Amino acid sequence: MFSHLPTPTLDPILSLSVAYRNDPRAEKVDLGIGVYKNSAGETPVMKAISQAQDIVVETQKTKSYVGLAGCEEFNKSMVDLLLTGTSAMDRVAAIQTPGASGALRMLGDLMKVAQPNTTVWISNPSYVNHRPVMEAAGLKVKHYSYFSPETKQVDVARMMDDLSQAGPEDVVLLHGCCHNPTGADIDFDAWKAITELSQKNGFIPFVDIAYQGFGDGLEEDAKGLRHMADNVEEMLITTSCSKNFGLYRERTGAAIVVGKSMQDVNNAKGKLLTLARATYTMPPDHGAALVKTILQNQQLTAVWKQELSEMQQRLLNLRQTLCNELRNSHNTSQFDFIESHKGMFTVLGFSQDQMMQLREEYGIYGVGDGRINIAGLTEKDIPYVAEAIVNVS
Ligand code: LMR
Repeated sequence: MFSHLPTPTLDPILSLSVAYRNDPRAEKVDLGIGVYKNSAGETPVMKAISQAQDIVVETQKTKSYVGLAGCEEFNKSMVDLLLTGTSAMDRVAAIQTPGASGALRMLGDLMKVAQPNTTVWISNPSYVNHRPVMEAAGLKVKHYSYFSPETKQVDVARMMDDLSQAGPEDVVLLHGCCHNPTGADIDFDAWKAITELSQKNGFIPFVDIAYQGFGDGLEEDAKGLRHMADNVEEMLITTSCSKNFGLYRERTGAAIVVGKSMQDVNNAKGKLLTLARATYTMPPDHGAALVKTILQNQQLTAVWKQELSEMQQRLLNLRQTLCNELRNSHNTSQFDFIESHKGMFTVLGFSQDQMMQLREEYGIYGVGDGRINIAGLTEKDIPYVAEAIVNVS
């Protein structure tokens, strides 16, 4: 059964963590996987999560099953966080999923059942797991132009040109904020333009938002998505608590469906539940129980928002410090774009070979597509990393 299987290729992001761990060099820097680190280089449990954990330990009386949709109060909290104030609130349904990748797969499977010929358009480049998950669900995948290697910003004209080819059997996958891998986000005008195009050409928007709060703030980061949800009949959304609640290993996310009517989305939710039953039955509870506990408690919500905003500010400072170091110590403004990017990631514009050189000569681990995780930097690493970037460029 197994002897014809080819040697597996390694995951381009997850394999980096293993290689990094096995690297004996003291000066090594992990800028691979999207995990936030504080100035001590640690990823501590967030304070709000610790407090919620105490409450859950004290109050939880059973480990019996929750249900196919996971925790419904968590689902409602996720919908509130993303869609409050929009007309979509009256025609939305959600299920809890194992992380946002689990949500991507569930919505991929739903599309395959609801509209088997769907083509999913993803940005070029996009999150490394977008294409594999959509293809695993049996869907066709096409790329739309997104990033300009020259300006290191979004090429909106080319993007719109490509998206004008998407029609009623198509779904357009967008990053809600903090584009992964590039760090280059579309502005509000582009959100409006894509919304109009969707209304005109009939494609369904699908927004993957895994970094709400890391860009310009919780509300600001949902602005484009909210405009869209307010103005289109149908929309798909995946969201994650991995980053903004620091719940990475707890696999806490949600799949959200906006439809024409409550009846439509209840039917979609019913289908999602049978798909979940046939895949993992129900999602793990712990992470969702913690998020629910925070979002249902005003004081804990305030602690969480404060902490998230400090993380966001720290990312901005790290971007600024890195650019200053490159400008002041190396006399180059070639990397000024780093400051204009949002969230955890930035694409340096380096080739696979250059990324390998960073890794082999300096022990600096970034993804082969040129992505570095700004949130993996500590202040003390910045002079070393800046020098390496200049030497490799
Ligand atoms: C990343 O892009 O580094 C993260 O989203 C981790 C993952 O699941 O790939």
